[in-house]
Amino acid sequence: MEANSACRCFLLCTVLSLTLQLTQCNVAYDNKALIINGQRRIILSGSIHYPRSTPKMWEGLIQKAKDGGLDAIDTYVFWNVHEPSPGNYNFEGRYDIVKFIKMVHKAGLYVHLRIGPYVCAEWNFGGFPVWLKYVPGISFRTDNEPFKLAMQKFTQKIVQMMKDEKLFESQGGPIILAQIENEYEPEREESGDAGHAYMTWAAKMAVELDTGVPWVMCKEDDAPDPVINTCNGFYCDYFSPNKPYKPTIWTEAWSGWFTDFGGPIYQRPVEDLAFAVARFIQKGGSFVNYYMYHGGTNFGRTAGGPFITTTYDYNAPIDEYGLIREPKYSHLKELHKAIKLCERVLLAADPNITHLGSYEQVHLFSSKSEDCAAFLANYNQKSSASVTFNNRQYILPPWSISILPDCKKVVFNTAQVGAKASQIQMLPTNVELLSWETFNEGLSSIDGDSTFTVVGLLEQLNVTRDTSDYLWYTTNVDIRSSESFLRGGRHPTLTVESRGHAMHAFINGRLSGSAFGTREERRFIFTGNVELHAGRNRISLLSIAVGLPNIGPHFETYKTGILGPVVLHGLDEGERDLSWQKWSYKVGLEGEAMKLISPNTIPTVNWIQGSLKANIKQPLTWYKAYLDEPKGDEPLALDMSSMRKGQVWVNGHSIGRYYTVSANGNCSGCSYSNTFRPAKCQFDCGHPTQQWYHVPRSWLNPTQNLLVVLEEIEGDASKISLLKRVVTND
Ligand SMILES: *[C@@H]1O[C@H](CO)[C@@H](O)[C@H](O)[C@H]1NC(C)=O
Ligand SMILES: *[C@@H]1O[C@H](CO)[C@@H](O)[C@H](O)[C@H]1NC(C)=O
Ligand SMILES: *[C@@H]1O[C@H](CO)[C@@H](O)[C@H](O)[C@H]1NC(C)=O
Repeated sequence: MEANSACRCFLLCTVLSLTLQLTQCNVAYDNKALIINGQRRIILSGSIHYPRSTPKMWEGLIQKAKDGGLDAIDTYVFWNVHEPSPGNYNFEGRYDIVKFIKMVHKAGLYVHLRIGPYVCAEWNFGGFPVWLKYVPGISFRTDNEPFKLAMQKFTQKIVQMMKDEKLFESQGGPIILAQIENEYEPEREESGDAGHAYMTWAAKMAVELDTGVPWVMCKEDDAPDPVINTCNGFYCDYFSPNKPYKPTIWTEAWSGWFTDFGGPIYQRPVEDLAFAVARFIQKGGSFVNYYMYHGGTNFGRTAGGPFITTTYDYNAPIDEYGLIREPKYSHLKELHKAIKLCERVLLAADPNITHLGSYEQVHLFSSKSEDCAAFLANYNQKSSASVTFNNRQYILPPWSISILPDCKKVVFNTAQVGAKASQIQMLPTNVELLSWETFNEGLSSIDGDSTFTVVGLLEQLNVTRDTSDYLWYTTNVDIRSSESFLRGGRHPTLTVESRGHAMHAFINGRLSGSAFGTREERRFIFTGNVELHAGRNRISLLSIAVGLPNIGPHFETYKTGILGPVVLHGLDEGERDLSWQKWSYKVGLEGEAMKLISPNTIPTVNWIQGSLKANIKQPLTWYKAYLDEPKGDEPLALDMSSMRKGQVWVNGHSIGRYYTVSANGNCSGCSYSNTFRPAKCQFDCGHPTQQWYHVPRSWLNPTQNLLVVLEEIEGDASKISLLKRVVTND
């Protein structure tokens, strides 16, 4: 009943918004802003994704967000972690969304709940469970009954959970806004009528859930009433909603950018971010959400891809480890204060825009109650400007806006940064990694029971269903003793075409070579000389998924794995195509099946002690050691720079995938004062894209913590070290 009446009044609000004053509505909107308890509000918000940190970190992150001047926290809802198999739900630990939202509420902040359930988010499969792909007849994100049924079921489930816990603002809770779908416009344009029908259905389905708070669709300019279309981007001052009675909302103000293994680190200068936000506010925007405010970590195999890094730091105001990043954090905090000083008049008046020169403008807000605020802008990328406004002189740095909450005094300029940059150190902890043991996976597993053989090459995901990154493809090759190469000629060459994402080739049990795709180019071709002998030879190809795609038209249909052709070149017969012979398949590694990562496993495994030095060059080796928790409360990280590629676990918790490939890019400088794009501000070229891997303290016991590392290629595990992150801000 409660929800019902809230919805009726919500519909009235939006349909007849301009004429009706509806005090019983808890969250409504008009052309200016969201209206919460009858009041227009400017909402400053930040994205913090609950599974990208640990419950122990949540309170601190939320408090820092509040201290940074935010009013709200925004999060996606991550379907694939909540429903790992159909009808089996998981809302425990890092996935305890209700607990997270209640913590936000307790801190006195609002929530924007972005249900999606497509979330993109550089998250595995864009947040869709992999099993969804195998529902008969399904096609994602279009007018398709099986998909709509599944999407509706999950959306209803989440909305019902929130209602049961009274978390919508209409029930006295913190959720003031909800999102359905996500950046659908590009897809809709591709899908034509079916896309439009689906989008319209999704909006209606969501609105009918009677939450009592408005729904948004970001990046979907056709969002039907009463759903609000919103903007995502580096700048959104060009954006206007599709109806004059909707507020101007920026759901993703990109505070930085994500990284992929092999790419550089991207940073967005805070001068430009603040400039972009000020531009949006002076234009009449009333809701800004930083994506991300805290990026965090893609623990386990949650990273999207392929090749999204385990760190999801995002160059956000709070760094991956939960520490404040200066000057970004404090400069935005000052910006938020300045905006709040203007809030009343911003929400009451429309700006009067006057040009003060070819690059200079004033946005003047004044109301009957004699409030007055002004935003003085200089869009010139090179030079400062001196402008006269209200008979006073103001100097405006290039590419900047000054905010005058009383139309006289400048309280903030977007380019004048007071805070000093954080000094970041990764210091030794003096914690020793003790009693190393190794287990060489070798190729022992591929003759095991769970191997099966078919003719031809299979698509990887269809076989693994993403239960593991790894799939073995094994075949035999018979070589006649008469082959010329056996008598001193050139060795044959093997070429393997893969749809991604990485591959190691083993010939007769020995690693012969590896090949890797990239985020941009999933496909790759392995080419290597192979040492074959007369008689039967064995070719074992380990194909590796490095995060499933999270974006692109119908990314659920993208293929992964070795689809061929697989060809031997340089035999007397010329080429021999192996694609259509018998191949044996084995999902996952032996060490995964034996649960080597678990601290509770009975040691049936022949771990080898004291073998570290001797084993350095062995591919597919598992390493384990024990470590104590260092004293103090600094965040911790493993330095994996002595290793190449694999995964790492602590006490059975997956820290994530590691890959120490060097960052390729153009790190030739970064100026704040022109239109930002990530390529303009690249850092750390020539260093590993990711060297340090966050180990949450809450996963550690005081002593005897089990560290397990799986190295695919080769590495020196004795050089792995535990570091503490010390950040000094003054
Ligand atoms: C806007 O400002 C200019 C210059 O101060 C003034 O002439 C004009 O009347 C103002 N317009 C409105 C609609 O207030
Ligand atoms: C997936 O595997 C099943 C059987 O394992 C097979 O029947 C089906 O054709 C495969 N689909 C694709 C797309 O490879
Ligand atoms: C690197 O970037 C700088 C500045 O954007 C540009 O001038 C230069 O041409 C770039 N170099 C290469 C090799 O692309």
